[in-house]
Parts: sequence; structure tokens; C-alpha cells
Amino acid sequence: MTPDNKIIVTGGAGYIGSHTVVELFNAGYVPVIVDDFSNADHRVLDRLRAILGQPVTCHEGDCKDAAFLSRVFTKESGITGVIHFAAFKAVGESVQEPLKYYHNNLMSLVVLLKAMMAGGVSHLVFSSSCTVYGQPDHLPVTEETLKKPAFSPYGRTKQICEEILEDTVKSHAPLKVMALRYFNPIGAHPSSLIGELPLGVPNNLVPFITQTAAGIREKLTVFGDDYDTLDGTCVRDYIHVVDLGTAHVKALQNLEKISKKTYYDVVNIGTGKGNSVMEVIQVFEKVTNVRVNYVIGKRREGDIEKIYANADKSRRVLNWQTQLSLEDALRDAWHWQKRLGEASSRVAS
Ligand code: WQD
Repeated sequence: MTPDNKIIVTGGAGYIGSHTVVELFNAGYVPVIVDDFSNADHRVLDRLRAILGQPVTCHEGDCKDAAFLSRVFTKESGITGVIHFAAFKAVGESVQEPLKYYHNNLMSLVVLLKAMMAGGVSHLVFSSSCTVYGQPDHLPVTEETLKKPAFSPYGRTKQICEEILEDTVKSHAPLKVMALRYFNPIGAHPSSLIGELPLGVPNNLVPFITQTAAGIREKLTVFGDDYDTLDGTCVRDYIHVVDLGTAHVKALQNLEKISKKTYYDVVNIGTGKGNSVMEVIQVFEKVTNVRVNYVIGKRREGDIEKIYANADKSRRVLNWQTQLSLEDALRDAWHWQKRLGEASSRVAS
């Protein structure tokens, strides 16, 4: 592992970031985490050390702090790229606190881009989202699908960030960018040492399912069964977080092959398959043999009815496609939940 292929991973102690740190290391990169731990747990660093067999360098600080980022780029020699995860991402919270989302998600990107250019670093993989499509008219969505008005300030921050990146590249700044539009990341590392750590009551479906199955939540509410889908519940494209991590490595490797000084592209990162909420519940019960207590409730404000990816471009451009199934992801999510339960019961005892 040569010391001159360091990759800065902002938000690298978070859910997707930590799984990407593992895949970067496995691919021979030297990941360097930058995280303010506003939505991450310091214990993740020990867990990453256990998985990788060595510590991962971490700089604790806020990506909106230009002086802090400048110090990181000065201290860390041999940085060849950046993966930018650091952003707030709770759709519901963004409706309640839009300014928090616009300030954090937009300013962290602007300050990071300036630090990269001052530091002579030109490769950036950006964490975007399928929320940029809004409710698409046709499915599956391709990267050329028209971006309709987003359903939340969160989705709008991702749309604006993509514009910021495209405009910066168009200004002939020395920048090569791949924006990855994720669909729904789920699951956990097969070691059960890292996984999703929702703070408080989970917003997302799968951690709510696993906490209900573990008896932490009394029941899961399925938000509506009167949609125009096979069983009336919403459809999403659920991707294993480990597959998502490898997609970021492939995106970096693709940038390294681009000889042009400036480059901007977007790629959907999904399985290409849609599953309904009820199907996820049924598959979870099948692979874990644990029943999920659920009730059908009202629709959730801001939910779109169905979305799933056309995954052809990720195969063509990144030479990447998902390797793990919905079953694998739900099984790994359950193992992770059980591990969390064991740890918290040890703390409680
Ligand atoms: C999935 C489905 C809910 C909870 C996520 C991320 C967002 C973005 C896109 C990356 C929906 C239903 C949920 C529950 C339920 N990812 N549900 N009961 O809304 O697709 O958004 O993926 O950028 O950041 O939040 O994911 O897991 O919240 O919901 O019925 O208790 O599960 O209605 O149909 P969503 P989700």
C-alpha cells in the first residue's frame, strides 16, 4: 500500500462512510476520515480498527470550517482524492429545519471544493441521491430522467449540490467529479462490527423493522397501503451498503483513468429492482424466521410512490453491479441488530 493514495472520506465515521472506508482499504487505498461526529459514534473507529487490523486516521471537525479543512489537507501528504459523504440526510427533519439543511449540505461542499483546489486535489466522488428525481413519470429511472421538483429540502440540497459541481467543472476548475445517486442503502457489514446506528426513533424502514423484531419498538407502522403498486405499499430500490461501498471505489478508479483535466458525470447506484414495503417485511421474516409486528397506517408526508434504478450505466461506466441480495442485506441487518442488543445489554447489566 503506497502512502500516496490517501483518500479523504468526509462523514467517514457514518453508516455509508464507514462501510466505504473498509472497501477503500480492501482496494489498497489509505482512507483518512474527516467527521464532526454530529451523526456518528466514536466507537466506529475502534470497530474499523478491528475489521482492518490497523487504525484509520481521523480528523474530527466540521467541513464548513475552512481553517480546519485547510489544516487537514496540509497535514495529510499524498491525498489523491476525496469522497464527500458529510451531510444531513433525514428527509422528514429537512422539512422541519430547511435552513439547517441548506446551510450544512451546501456550505460543506463549497468549503470542501475550495480546500481541494487550494490543496491541488482534483478527484471527487460525491454522495448524491435518487431523491433528485422526485416522483419520476417513468420507471426504472435512468441518469437522463428529468429531475422533477424534489419532495423535500433534503432532496433539493442534493439537486443544488449537483448544480454546484457541474458549474464548477464548467468553469474549467481542475476538478473531476462522479456524483453517485444512491437509492435505498440497507444492511450492515457481515462482521456485524459496523452498521446503521440511527439516533433515537429510526426514520428509515429497515432499522425500524430490526428494532421491532428485537422488541425495542412495539410495532412497525406501514405508511400506507393504498398506493398504485402490486400490494399497495411503496416501492424502493434497496441496495446492500457493502455494495454501495465498492461502488465508490470503482468511481474513484474511473476518475483515475480519465485523462481530461475536467470531468463531471452522474451514475445511479441501485440494484435495478424495486421491492415494496410488504415484500421487505416478508423477506425479513423468511430469512430471520422472526415475525415483525406491523400495522397499516396513514401515508407519510413527502413519500414518493415508487422508484427504482436503471442500473445499466453503473455496469457500463464503473464496471460495477450489485453482488449482494435483499436477503443478504436483511440477514446482515438482523445480525447487526442482535449484536447491538448484546452490547447494550452488557452495558445495562
Ligand atoms: C422506505 C419506505 C416509507 C419507515 C431514504 C433516505 C433518503 C434517501 C432515499 C439517500 C417508504 C416506508 C418507512 C416506517 C414505513 N437516501 N416506511 N414505515 O423515504 O425512501 O428515503 O432513501 O439519499 O436519505 O431517507 O427511505 O427507509 O424512510 O422509507 O412504511 O417506519 O418504507 O413510507 O415507502 P426513503 P425510508
